[in-house]
Amino acid sequence: MAILVTGGAGYIGTHTCVELLEAGYDIIVVDNFANSSPEALNRVKEITGKSFRFYQLDVRDRSALEAVFARNQIDAAIHFAGLKAVGESVRSPLWYYEMNMISTLALCEVMSKYGVHKLVFSSSATVYGASGDMPVSENSPIGASSPYGRTKQMIEQILQDLAASNPEWGISILRYFNPAGAHKSGRIGENPSGTPNNLMPYLSQVAAGRLEELSIYGSDYPTPDGTGIRDYIHVVDLALGHIRALGRILDSSGLNIYNLGTGRGSSVLEMIAAFEKATGTHVPYRFAARRPGDIAVSCADIRKARQELGWTADRCIEEMCEDTWRWQANNPEGYDIHENRFMTALLKM
Ligand code: NAD
Ligand code: UD1
Repeated sequence: MAILVTGGAGYIGTHTCVELLEAGYDIIVVDNFANSSPEALNRVKEITGKSFRFYQLDVRDRSALEAVFARNQIDAAIHFAGLKAVGESVRSPLWYYEMNMISTLALCEVMSKYGVHKLVFSSSATVYGASGDMPVSENSPIGASSPYGRTKQMIEQILQDLAASNPEWGISILRYFNPAGAHKSGRIGENPSGTPNNLMPYLSQVAAGRLEELSIYGSDYPTPDGTGIRDYIHVVDLALGHIRALGRILDSSGLNIYNLGTGRGSSVLEMIAAFEKATGTHVPYRFAARRPGDIAVSCADIRKARQELGWTADRCIEEMCEDTWRWQANNPEGYDIHENRFMTALLKM
């Protein structure tokens, strides 16, 4: 079985490529490195001892994508490629609609043309917005509150229409909660460019001394300690969820939506304490105002994925913290260590 992985050089993509290769799948990766580095793919090869084909292209480029389908026998696709920064999407909505919508339309069109009808799509818990009761199930109302979230919501609708148009389609929409952690090897992990927006990369850069202190956004939420609660899921568990979802669509048709989370929530203060305990580091923090758009609690109802995919997330918060720290400590400048040093040297000249 050969699986096309779009955005395979990114954070979740690299971890999924490792698990796909280790499960015996052939993979064909496409990425334009808009938010990643070629070094990430070298590390996937290093971890697995396996090689695979890679094409540097923009998924919006239909003719480049078609050439990949023409040259390779492809059985299914996992579509990670897309932009994901909420704040950036508020500032540049047209760019987000262009990148996320057009790439998905192009991919589905080319898949249809080549008779490939099996697709796993990366959606997000952000589609639920501030919808109310927790934990949220796949049937809870959706209502994304940012242009980024709305691209995911719209793509979900497009995929539902596509599945309804032709019974050959087998589509899995995966709504990720809060991916965190890194591969055990410490060789691949999250590599944000610039100052991180999300809690775990920010926290680990504070622990590493790259950032001075963590601002905790809000101490007056209606939660036991007043800080926001999220359902953090280890990225390797998330990757394994893709393998299960893929297995299911290869055997059946129709569209299914699954929450991928742990079903357990942790507050910001609990995450700081767990990180300090697991890594022996100190994380200075201060309380700051709430971040606009944040909700108090986000937590997944995970029963559907457990029942239909036979999948649950096994890795705990401590393991997420240890693995994040191993990645951070071994790769203080992310993947582009040589490039960064070269740029720093140039700037100093
Ligand atoms: P990432 O930015 O690390 O990976 C995305 C990859 O796609 C990058 O390698 C980027 O270079 C590539 N890419 C982007 N646009 C492209 C295009 N037009 N053509 C080719 N390649 C392109 O992000 P990630 O965290 O690995 O997320 C993967 C997917 O999961 C995204 O669709 C994201 O929206 C979704 N998601 C992520 C999170 C999260 O917290 N990380 C949560 C929910 C959903
Ligand atoms: C963010 C995105 C969401 C995306 C999710 C995926 C925003 C507004 N939302 O959500 O669309 O699906 O990531 O992982 O960006 N926090 C701090 N200080 C920080 C960073 C975060 O206190 O420096 C807090 C937040 O207020 C929140 C928690 O930590 O309570 C987690 O934040 P974050 O990692 O950004 O994730 P989400 O807010 O869930």
